[in-house]
Amino acid sequence: MTQGAFGAFMICRFTISRAFLLAAVLLLFVGAAAAQDLTGYWDVRTPSYSGDGTFRDTYFRIEQSGETVSGELIRKPAGIPITGTFKDEALHFVTVPPVPPPPPPGQPPRRQMLPITYDGTLENGRLMLTTHGRMGEIHSVAEKVTKEATEPPAALPLPALKTLPDNGLAKTPPMGWNSWNKFAGRVDDAAVRGMADAMVASGMRDAGYVYINIDDTWELGRDANGNLIPNKKFPDMRALADYVHSKGLKIGIYSSPGPKTCAGYEGSYGHVTQDAKTIAAWGIDYLKYDLCSDLDIYKDDAPTLQAIYQEMGEALQATHRDIIYSLCEYGRAQVWTGWGEKAGGNLWRTTGDISDRWDSMDRIGFDQIKLAAYAKPGHWNDPDMLEIGNGGMTVDEYRTHMSLWSLLAAPLIAGNDLRSMTDETRNILLNREVIAIDQDPGYKPVGSISSKNGLETLMRPLADGSVVVGLFNRTSATAEMFFPRESLPASFNSRKLALRDLWKHEAAWMAGERFTAIVPTHGVVLVKISAE
Ligand code: GLA
Repeated sequence: MTQGAFGAFMICRFTISRAFLLAAVLLLFVGAAAAQDLTGYWDVRTPSYSGDGTFRDTYFRIEQSGETVSGELIRKPAGIPITGTFKDEALHFVTVPPVPPPPPPGQPPRRQMLPITYDGTLENGRLMLTTHGRMGEIHSVAEKVTKEATEPPAALPLPALKTLPDNGLAKTPPMGWNSWNKFAGRVDDAAVRGMADAMVASGMRDAGYVYINIDDTWELGRDANGNLIPNKKFPDMRALADYVHSKGLKIGIYSSPGPKTCAGYEGSYGHVTQDAKTIAAWGIDYLKYDLCSDLDIYKDDAPTLQAIYQEMGEALQATHRDIIYSLCEYGRAQVWTGWGEKAGGNLWRTTGDISDRWDSMDRIGFDQIKLAAYAKPGHWNDPDMLEIGNGGMTVDEYRTHMSLWSLLAAPLIAGNDLRSMTDETRNILLNREVIAIDQDPGYKPVGSISSKNGLETLMRPLADGSVVVGLFNRTSATAEMFFPRESLPASFNSRKLALRDLWKHEAAWMAGERFTAIVPTHGVVLVKISAE
């Protein structure tokens, strides 16, 4: 090769290699840009705030166009739109919850969901996300998944409908304690043992509160044989059940017919019979079975819900252990009209979740009177658990809560921390004269005597021939209320009456032909009236 030719060759090689380099860099750049397109389906895995080692999955569909991000948080039946940006490796988006439609006449406004803001970065194909919840910063990791992975599993066949035999339990409304209202995800083995101890020490057990119920968030997943296993908050369920039993108490647990519980933990989907056997083997005496994610799979109508609940009802009965069966499906498809009982239910929720606020308790409680005739021994309406002692209501409001739930013959499931009750809380939960109304052996439903401008008079006949009358003041001012003698059943006519105030624990009197009381705002006067 001549020198000139060599020079030309070198220039050429240099040019070629530069071109290659440039092309490679360009390719890399284009490749990186392509890898950074967020368009697709994402599974956002969020660790449980209580540190129990479990994760919640939330699914997003993201569409990226330039620096603009849109899509939805995938929810059944409709997604919640998201909007945001992906710029300089940083992702920022916010959910845009729809404005709820106006409520039907006379109903409270539906709650507007709050937007959630996500910030994050893309690292090795995974999104490192931060959001802010009520408990502070939450860190999640998201991975791209297929569309199918975001969809609920296919529906499994449900049993043909039948009427299950009565299990003979809950002849009076169940009484006990449940972890959800106070502890939610923070319930653990130590808390449950502490609650069992306090149940005994406070005298509650001897007053009839015997069930210690673990609500959602105890689950981890399944072992290699498909057996449901607890997470690290509950190292040994059998030992815990033994402990609770050793205190003369009974123990309850929670599951869902869906793949996930309401808090996103492992549900009984596809494992119904196996899970009934597992909990029976642990020594469980009560199951709360909470619909939640099954609604993503099955129709929301009475025959379908009956079949779903019947499946577990039958599985529980097949264990031959006495297990109270609590249906939690928020009163859908009028569960009280008969199918809840056919499915083996001892109690069924009639409403959405209660919260520790007057407006919630007041609305739920007084709305139940019309359902009272559907309850009967062994099969009770459940307007949700008690909030007494949780701090969000006044003492008068909590007395109303206890009085109303007892008149309704609702399950009395305390939801407070029994280890640190004030005397006021203790006196309300332990008012044996009011508990006796709830537990009256010959159930007869409560009825409304009068309802006017927020002043409600309720009356319930009792097994011993007496009646109990509740004067409830739902208004925001003290009120004088009265109960006319003529409202009493005919059997009371021209007989001498004995009245007893069940909160003051003392005798009361009729003044002439009426009983009159000053009732504080949101308070109650509860009197038992017997004919001598
Ligand atoms: C639902 C139920 C509640 C509670 C939670 C647990 O909301 O109605 O009582 O069990 O689920 O996730």
